[in-house]
Amino acid sequence: MLIIANWKAYVEDVPKAAALASAAKRLARTSGVELVLAPPAPFLGLLARASGPVAFAAQDVSATTGGAKTGEVTAASVRAAGARYAIVGHSERRAAGDTDTVVAEKLRHALAQKLVPILCVGETARDGDGRYLARLRESLASALGGLTAKEAASVIIAYEPVWAIGKTAADAIPPADLAETALYLRKVLAEFLPGRSAARAAILYGGSVEPENARALAGETGVAGFLVGHASVEPETFAALVRAVA
Ligand code: PGA
Repeated sequence: MLIIANWKAYVEDVPKAAALASAAKRLARTSGVELVLAPPAPFLGLLARASGPVAFAAQDVSATTGGAKTGEVTAASVRAAGARYAIVGHSERRAAGDTDTVVAEKLRHALAQKLVPILCVGETARDGDGRYLARLRESLASALGGLTAKEAASVIIAYEPVWAIGKTAADAIPPADLAETALYLRKVLAEFLPGRSAARAAILYGGSVEPENARALAGETGVAGFLVGHASVEPETFAALVRAVA
């Protein structure tokens, strides 16, 4: 299991960031679950080390390279700060203006810096005639279409239905629906990945994963792990969640 702790902007001071990181390291050592922490960018350099029991991810990378770009956080700079992964296309970034085209550009910059991209895709709502499936396909096609087969195979997919984000376990996707959607995403991935890579591709789920539903969602749903938001910034809640799937 791979669990990405997406701290979003919940963590805004150094003592809290340091305490969460220490707790996560202990948890990684004792649980055997692979943990990746995605702190706000300013804390990356402070927390990320090249080796250690947890790896680090940027929550986003810029769609540009360096230069006269005030305020941009480039893929090269987060890599230099110690990130091994980069989340791109999170729905909260998409809501702030990232289109599929921008996400594809960010993905290319992450790959160019040898960051492992975690590409988020997810529908805002479900409809009875499967239009949301076409939307998921479109997001994947736009992001992966311009990559080499090898690059595309290195991308981790995070399926995050927007309607399930930031709620409670009761509002998360039912395991059977997750299994069905993961299967669909894998079928779409097969169009872009060579050979048997789609069968092996890592698909994560995100959206109100909590200690109460983690085990069921990790069951026979075909997902390799989770992207966890609010439940990752409360040490006891996060520990209970990780132990539930360990
Ligand atoms: P949540 O967030 O766990 O708070 O729903 C998940 C995410 O947005 O990555």
